[in-house]
Formats: sequence, C-alpha cells, structure tokens
Amino acid sequence: MSVKSELLKLLEANRDKDLSGEQIAKRLNVTRAAVWKAVQALQNDGYDIAAKNKLGYRLSGSSDRLSAEGIGLYLEKKDMKVIVLPEVDSTNDELKRLAMGGSSGEESLREGCVVLSEHQTKGKGRRGRGFYSPEGSGIYMSILFCPDDKMASDVILVTTQAAVAVAHAVSKVCKKETDIKWVNDVFLNDKKICGILTEAVSDFESGGIELVIVGIGINVLRPKDIPDDIKEVMGYIYDENDEEKASRNEIAAAVINELQKYYEDLPDRSFIKEYKSRSNVIGKKIRFGTPGRIAGASGDDWREGTAVDIDDSGGLIVRLSDGSEEVLHTGEISLRLDE
Ligand code: BTN
Repeated sequence: MSVKSELLKLLEANRDKDLSGEQIAKRLNVTRAAVWKAVQALQNDGYDIAAKNKLGYRLSGSSDRLSAEGIGLYLEKKDMKVIVLPEVDSTNDELKRLAMGGSSGEESLREGCVVLSEHQTKGKGRRGRGFYSPEGSGIYMSILFCPDDKMASDVILVTTQAAVAVAHAVSKVCKKETDIKWVNDVFLNDKKICGILTEAVSDFESGGIELVIVGIGINVLRPKDIPDDIKEVMGYIYDENDEEKASRNEIAAAVINELQKYYEDLPDRSFIKEYKSRSNVIGKKIRFGTPGRIAGASGDDWREGTAVDIDDSGGLIVRLSDGSEEVLHTGEISLRLDE
C-alpha cells in the first residue's frame, strides 16, 4: 500500500483529530518528509486537510470524498476489493470490463468486488434510460456476484435484495425510513432517492449465468443542478435541514454490508418480508406495462389494476377489473394519482 493510501486510512479513522507529523511518520514507518508529500497529494485530490505547525494534520469531519480507504473502515468483510474512480462512463460497464478482462496475469475480479465512482458520464438506468450522476453528491456503485448453478434460479432476486439492502442501510446509518416502489426504486418522502440496474453476463458454453452486476445509484446530497425533466421526481437523502450527515463512504459501506448478508441468505428469502413491509404499492391502483407491451410514445399498452401483494419470488400480484390476477415479474408500473 502506498504512503498516500496508508495516510488516508489513518486520517479517515481520525477525522477531526490532530495527528502530528511525527506520530504519523512513526505509525507508517516513513520519514516526516514522506508524510508531508502524501498530505500534499491528498490535498491536491481535494481532501480538506488542515496542516498546522504545532498540531500536525487534521482531516475535516465534513470531508466527504469517496475512497476505498474510507469505505474499508466500515466494511464488515475486510478482504473485499473496492475500487473508487474519480470519473467513469458507467460503473456497471467498468466492472463488466474488469471482470471479463484481466487475462494477461492480472488478478481477476472475485465475487463481491465493488467499483464506485464520484461521477458517471454515461450512467445507465433501466430500459435504456440514463441515470443522472453528478459529481460529489451521490454514490454510484456496482457490485459483482458470480452465482453457482444452485443459485441460478434465485439470481433474479438480487435486484429485490439490493432495494432492501439500500433501505436497511439508509435506516441504520442515516436514520431515515424509505419505501420501495416495485420493482426496485427506493423512495424517501415520495421522491426517488435510489435506482438499481442489474445486468447479467451469460456463459455461452453452459448457457448459464456467469456474472451478475448489481448497479446502485443513490442520491445522497442535493446536487447543484437538477435537470428539468427529473426535478419533480428526484429526491436525496439529506437536505439543508439535516445537521448530522453520515459520510457517503459510511453509507456505501453499509449498503455493501447489507447486500452481502442478504446475498448469503438468498435461498431462504429472508428479505422478502422487509421488501413487502416497505412496499409503497400494495393496495394501490396502478398502471402497468410488461416487456414487449411497455407503452411506446402513445401509452396505449398500459393496463390498469390493483396491486394486492408480492409473492415469494418478488413478483407483484395485480388484480384486474374482471377479478382475475396476474403476477408481474418484470416491467414498469406507475401509481395512479387520480384516485
Ligand atoms: C434506474 O433507476 O433506472 C436504475 C438506475 C441505476 C443507476 C446505477 S448508478 C451505478 C450503476 N452504473 C450505472 O450505469 N447504472 C447503475
């Protein structure tokens, strides 16, 4: 590990505390000049580190930059590989590239590897839409799973799990209660704070699923600009009235921890109970579209019904006007606001 990385780890673990150059040099087993060089490099990266002659160095408690070192402090599984990039097209695409490449002697990525970025230039949403990913205010992350054959039939549920993991993490760390709009959007006060896009890579030879990439985008702080077309729907965890804010590193780590736990429990579906209890659609009149029938520009293909329940595989049970029921496993719904 580089001096810069070791130093960042130490400073993240001692936010708002003064650490003398001598103390740090001793801990890292390097010279004070090397410490100073690493401090300058971190300051150049944008870290708010005060350097004072007598007191030494102090990372501001309000510093909120994503880093593998900062996330690592809160991770329950310490051996995970976490990669944080200042900018990327899409963390899902980057993780896919890393997972599929790495042949020429590079270490190949393992289950549980995570790629995060401060900013995505081509953040991807569901159904070919984009995902607005401005710098410094959100968490854009993708986590890799390599399901074995036994898990293949449950894999469809990782998206459901991810929504529950985010809701649980936000409750634990940010003390805010969110709800989930089927299938995988997390809402706070009727505004969307998180979207999830799961992509699978299949193995041509076996026809099975080789990799699953769960991409999670969370709006943590209000960004400077919000495009007009999402102003009405975009929410964020914290606004200007929140005095105590968890760092994005802590929130990201909490989501990873929760997701890992739920993934291990995938076969017993323990998360379905919480998914149901957080659902904001059960009992509501909805419009729905299923793949291939999703409304085009005309909107003619939308149908209407009442969401009555969620089954054990995360399917939404919808009652139609003739009393019959249909289970949706994928697709799109909108809540009818006219009733
Ligand atoms: C949606 O709401 O339509 C899904 C949005 C998913 C966004 C996340 S951000 C991290 C990961 N990388 C992407 O390009 N998309 C997902």
